[in-house]
Amino acid sequence: MSIDKISYDTLIPNNVNLSSDRRVLKALEQWHPQYIDWWKTMGPDGFQDAEVYLRTAISVETKGWAKFGYVKMPDYRWGILLAPQEEGRKIPFGEHKGEDVWQEVPGEYRAMLRRLLVIQGDTEPASVEQQRFLGATAPSLYDLRNVFQVNVEEGRHLWAMVYLLQKYFGRDGREEAHELLRRRSGDKDAPRMLGAFNEETPDWLSFFMFAFFTDRDGKMQLESLAQSGFDPLARTCRFMLTEEAHHMFVGESGVGRIIQRTCETMQQAGIDDPFDTEKIRQLSVIDLPTIQKKANLHYSLSLDLFGSEVSTNAANFYNASLKGRFKETKLTDDHRLDNTTYPVLKLVNGALTMVDEPALTALNMRLRDDYVDDCARGIRRWNKIVANNGVEFEFKLPHTGFNRQIGQFANVDISPQGEILKPNDWQIARNNFLPSTDDGEFIALLMRQETRRGKFAEWIAPPKSGVDNQAGDFEYVRLS
Ligand SMILES: [Fe+2]
Ligand SMILES: [Fe+2]
Repeated sequence: MSIDKISYDTLIPNNVNLSSDRRVLKALEQWHPQYIDWWKTMGPDGFQDAEVYLRTAISVETKGWAKFGYVKMPDYRWGILLAPQEEGRKIPFGEHKGEDVWQEVPGEYRAMLRRLLVIQGDTEPASVEQQRFLGATAPSLYDLRNVFQVNVEEGRHLWAMVYLLQKYFGRDGREEAHELLRRRSGDKDAPRMLGAFNEETPDWLSFFMFAFFTDRDGKMQLESLAQSGFDPLARTCRFMLTEEAHHMFVGESGVGRIIQRTCETMQQAGIDDPFDTEKIRQLSVIDLPTIQKKANLHYSLSLDLFGSEVSTNAANFYNASLKGRFKETKLTDDHRLDNTTYPVLKLVNGALTMVDEPALTALNMRLRDDYVDDCARGIRRWNKIVANNGVEFEFKLPHTGFNRQIGQFANVDISPQGEILKPNDWQIARNNFLPSTDDGEFIALLMRQETRRGKFAEWIAPPKSGVDNQAGDFEYVRLS
């Protein structure tokens, strides 16, 4: 049976043989109009009739998995696509290590698994909602198309989680699917489940930072769920990761192009001091210290998404073989972690101290450490752009205790350099650490829509190459 072929004969493209699964197909077809309704009210504002040059997944093979073409976003083919089933796959970790992976949900883990799916699922539409007004200030057609690409794929990720809920959780799953469309980012009464997904995305620098830092948290979560003993979840996440890579790219290259533009403009104007922000801002580019402050904000918000450093939930998910570690199968230990420890940074008697904790309860910390390394690699690439332009400035990741709301450092005032500050000192220095109202207003002034073909706003450099190798003046979005 070839279940890996994508079927386009149903309303919902899929490689899970939906047409022979009447119950789930019906549930999804009932959910579809609610989803479209949500997309039209909460998706990209003002561009529902525009034709956008989008990629659509047409295969789950590594090569040639997507095709490009003009699509009106509400007509996008959101599909249910799982990475191919691995013959004889065994559970790689936890109490069930070595057993055959599950194709059905084990009864004892039903509640836990449902919770994991809902938390992951909730983030997907949230980011679409957060980004819904960006089109009005897009710096180019290229960037406009990129944010829409990210948006439709986050929509597909919602579909992916909703499929799993509806297929494996019956009525409960249908209710959760409904709730996923009911909660709204930033809503007072029915907010999204996680803090960073209720924040605003007021400008394009924030969007790129979000895609760099917050989508990267998503990547880490998907990586650990891709190890799951529940095989349909593992396969779902593996395919989502191929799309997620593009979101990382949009974030990293977006910030990189802003840095490039700022540095080259400073050079042309003969400004050596990156902290001469007044002069730099007069040139209509974003000064590097402000970019650093935006990074501080989005990094600290994203660190909160990993939850408490020491967590029995994380231990339970791992023991149950539901959520593994980053690159679990490449690690060379017993994959059970019964008698091992992991160092966790804690506040002990007012000092930052490394404390060995049982490795099982420290899994959030461990995943966060992997995330920090991944972020640091991107920061190094940004610094290369700065150095190549002959500007003396270095971007740095702030201390992990900086500006935290969750875990060991919630309510402790720690500077980006890692010093513990008195609350008063933190307040005084706050605007050096995080974007101020002034910074926000300045950036807002730069945000003006540029929709002429091949043109870019003055504060951002053009990309090195086009999407799908298109020429620089390609019409990525046909405005109606
Ligand atoms: Fe996603
Ligand atoms: Fe994403």
